[in-house]
Amino acid sequence: MPGLHLPRLLTLLCALLVMGVFGCSPAKESADGRIVLRYLAGPDVGGGSREIIRRFEALHPGIKIKMVEGPAASNIRENMYSTSLMGGESTYDITYMDVVWVPKFAAQGWLLPLDDRFTPEMQDEFLPGDVLGSIYDGKIYRLPAQSDAGMLYYRKDLIEAAGFKPPRDWEDLVRIAKALQDPPKIWGFAFQGKQYEGLVCDYLEFLWGFGGRVIDKDGKIIVDSQEGIDALAAMVSTVRTHHISPEGILTFQEEEARHLFQEGKAVFMRNWPYAWNLVNSEGSPVKGKVGIMPMVGRIPGSGAATLGGWGWGISAYSEHPEEAWKFIAFATSAESLKVSYRKGGVIPARKSLFKDPEVLAKSPHFAKLYDVLIAARPRPVHPMYARISDAIQLHVSAALAGQETPEEAMKGAAAEMRAFVERK
Ligand code: GLC
Repeated sequence: MPGLHLPRLLTLLCALLVMGVFGCSPAKESADGRIVLRYLAGPDVGGGSREIIRRFEALHPGIKIKMVEGPAASNIRENMYSTSLMGGESTYDITYMDVVWVPKFAAQGWLLPLDDRFTPEMQDEFLPGDVLGSIYDGKIYRLPAQSDAGMLYYRKDLIEAAGFKPPRDWEDLVRIAKALQDPPKIWGFAFQGKQYEGLVCDYLEFLWGFGGRVIDKDGKIIVDSQEGIDALAAMVSTVRTHHISPEGILTFQEEEARHLFQEGKAVFMRNWPYAWNLVNSEGSPVKGKVGIMPMVGRIPGSGAATLGGWGWGISAYSEHPEEAWKFIAFATSAESLKVSYRKGGVIPARKSLFKDPEVLAKSPHFAKLYDVLIAARPRPVHPMYARISDAIQLHVSAALAGQETPEEAMKGAAAEMRAFVERK
């Protein structure tokens, strides 16, 4: 094979092995005879997942949980799971899933329905949006762990010192950001501008906040309506005309935005609630100086939050569904969710924790947060969501980079979506 060097050949062979092409999936038993259950997750910020696994393994000496820490971007992990599950085997017995993956994974038959185990009474203990997002075609496939909704963080201290009030709408936010920023020392607005799933979450908040929608009640794509174009124009203006966001925003995921804000280098930030504990942690330059509020929209009160969230499923190909269930039930117990909250600021999907004295003592804002979570809006629920997301990502990103006008971008995204969503 001319040109194919040994290291590259080895990499290729390893990749094929991981994909199960040669029928060799990773060992299902560890050297000490324990059953091994694998799952893929993002970076374990704060170490909460490692702690939960340690506690579980101490209670279940016959089971070893192997967490594979993958990339932070949700859509990249969705691809990794898909590649593995498409092969019809169970590299991952357990699936740690973003809410938007459920329709596809369920429609493909990759997941075990959990209805027998996760009864309606148990479902009632979790936030309704998280449960709803776990159901596909009348069956439930996911045990919610983390609830999520986009929110606006702001520098309370700076806003108050300058005699401003928190913004009431988008125009207000731009005005305050411009007045208080002093780039590159401090920017007006940090958000998720990279081409990945987070960009879609941010765009949808603009879209809904400007009165638009992706798909109407009859299944027609309407994202290229005037509202959709205006929403994108507002988002693009942050970096192209108002210059309240740095050019580097095009590389920002959640953590890049959080770091900028936490270092005191942004007046406003759109992010998920996990950032609260971190920006207020010991040693954080903005500890105690931060306020949170719902995202703003075109007019006062029109702001919207994207519903996010994560939860557990069991692969339909797992040889150990009982053991997998034991783990996911443990990982979503009130105790475990408290560990994730304490260590990583992960917002629990269980209702009871919003009244838990220990949680409330640390997070008096939880009562307000609960209302935002309840009001959060789902992304389009569709087995082809990943392709809807790709179309939005591609064109919103091109507009942010100044390569397409907002109108071209939304027309382009809508045309791509129409080709597969409206097809009969
Ligand atoms: C958060 C949300 C998830 C979303 C992701 C985008 O993790 O919980 O639903 O897809 O952010 O970056």
